[in-house]
Amino acid sequence: MKIALAGKGGSGKTTVTAGLALLFGQDKKTVIAVDCDPDMNLGYALDFPEPGKIVPISAMKELIAKRTSSVDTQSSGYFKLNPEVEDIPGKFCPQHNNIRLIVMGKVQKAEGGCLCPENAFIKRLISHLVVNEEVVLLDMVAGTEHLGRGTAQAVDAFLIITEPTQLGVSTGLHVYSLACALGIKKIWFIGNKVQHKADEDFLRKNLNAEPLGFLSFSQNLLAARGKFVFDDKLKKELLGIYKELNRRLK
Ligand SMILES: Nc1ncnc2c1ncn2[C@@H]1O[C@H](COP(=O)(O)OP(=O)(O)OP(=O)(O)O)[C@@H](O)[C@H]1O
Ligand SMILES: [Mg+2]
Repeated sequence: MKIALAGKGGSGKTTVTAGLALLFGQDKKTVIAVDCDPDMNLGYALDFPEPGKIVPISAMKELIAKRTSSVDTQSSGYFKLNPEVEDIPGKFCPQHNNIRLIVMGKVQKAEGGCLCPENAFIKRLISHLVVNEEVVLLDMVAGTEHLGRGTAQAVDAFLIITEPTQLGVSTGLHVYSLACALGIKKIWFIGNKVQHKADEDFLRKNLNAEPLGFLSFSQNLLAARGKFVFDDKLKKELLGIYKELNRRLK
């Protein structure tokens, strides 16, 4: 299952990615969790030891230069668009609780369609993971920059995490249209931080869709300050979302 998670800043992308990764991990599946956010906090959410010390892919300059053959060709601007990436997760990315974490790090925005070697390498790596690995969860930034058209279409589902606020809904709908433009077919919402039935109804009505499910506002999550913790209610709700996801994917 290859799933990309997106949504407004602070909506709960990292939290839901971490929670789903732990559910898959408990199922004895080897999960690849990909942190596409330049702020890099998925490692912390997943309780990796010393998450601040994980070297992001984009900072592996020498490796990228070597693999893209951009070492001697910097002046000419030519480099390989299909660098070898198969060994990267196993060799360069940490694993904890059956979860392999790939931190992409900061990359320059591609200007005018021009790619830099770091961007080419990361796109290639994501596309390799999505095509070849069993369970891949991508914690995206609000946009869809890291996803090329081909990779986007190889993703089984695109989940948009949405808080029950007007801004949450408008950003959610914007992300929905970006994902549609990439040709993604299975795009579903998850309502997060809901407190009342009225919040659920607000999301249903304004998104004009039935979300995969809703996660309640959790004092335990709040108190954990960005680290993912399960409580009984959260686990039940997330399992419900997981089941509904499987049902809709069939
Ligand atoms: N259901 C919830 N109840 C209470 N707090 C939550 C809930 N979901 C997420 N949070 C908290 O809200 C904050 C933002 O969540 P999270 O980091 O998952 O969002 P994000 O969309 O990944 O944010 P960013 O855009 O900064 O990457 C975190 O401190 C998290 O613990
Ligand atoms: Mg995040």
